[in-house]
Amino acid sequence: MNIIFYFSGTGNSLFAAREIAKVLGDTKIAPVADNFGADLGGFERIGFVYPIYFGGVPLVVKNFVESLDFSKCPNAYLFAIATRGGIPQNGLNEMNALLSAQSRELDYGTLLIMGANYILLYGRMFFTNAANRHAAKVLPKIAAAIRDKEKRPRALPKPGSMSMTERARGKVHEAARDYTVSGGCVSCSLCAKICPVCNIELKDGKPTFGEKCEQCMACLQFCPRRAINYKGKTEKRKRYRHPDVTAADLVRR
Ligand SMILES: Cc1cc2nc3c(=O)[nH]c(=O)nc-3n(C[C@H](O)[C@H](O)[C@H](O)COP(=O)(O)O)c2cc1C
Ligand code: SF4
Ligand code: SF4
Repeated sequence: MNIIFYFSGTGNSLFAAREIAKVLGDTKIAPVADNFGADLGGFERIGFVYPIYFGGVPLVVKNFVESLDFSKCPNAYLFAIATRGGIPQNGLNEMNALLSAQSRELDYGTLLIMGANYILLYGRMFFTNAANRHAAKVLPKIAAAIRDKEKRPRALPKPGSMSMTERARGKVHEAARDYTVSGGCVSCSLCAKICPVCNIELKDGKPTFGEKCEQCMACLQFCPRRAINYKGKTEKRKRYRHPDVTAADLVRR
């Protein structure tokens, strides 16, 4: 049996994980937030599929990998797919560094350009559809390489090259302090249900944000009323989510 651990705000990484699982067969797909410290014993292939954040691995994914004990799976084939909107920087190399801290390395790692979702900085991009079409086309080939246990190892981050990522990650939880909820909110609770780290509670029918935000953008992108916004900058920006992944697919509770 194989397992793919994923983290996904707007569906790209979940889409990629599913496409890989389809080709591999006998593969469990598991969200990282529910699987800290998971027992890795008995898996033939272990995969990590996640978006690149600030040129590196999302904080929750980093913490997750650090929670795992790879001594339980000495012969497992380890692979990673880092989905991205633009500049990959160390998005894969950092995963290799996290594994090397446990004397392991990626057998196979690849980057995959998909729709860019960081609405705090930009709206839906002009290349979105083309990027997602391309991803759908290459995923079966990536899956076949993983099925055949091809080797495509990755480098480690160059010394000093993680500083931008670390600076941004150090403040990642702070963004939600500046999220606002407009009067258009209809108290449907989708934002609370879809948040992958359970950072949203409805109080008196309105969402309130805690201190665990990963900036995955799910709540801003999926709110049916576009009621969640950031510093007055996002109201008019076009929303994005992967076209083949529904809110129900991403909801964890
Ligand atoms: C907080 C944040 C930071 C991001 N930083 C990068 C980045 O440094 N490089 C990049 O190529 N894409 C970046 N992106 C875009 C996402 O990696 C990309 O859209 C990804 O495929 C989204 O995956 P998901 O739909 O599974 O959440 C960022 C997105 C977010 C939300
Ligand atoms: S998803 Fe939007 S409408 Fe629904 S509770 Fe959250 S903010 Fe309100
Ligand atoms: S609060 Fe919103 S942006 Fe932050 S992790 Fe939850 S769903 Fe993602």
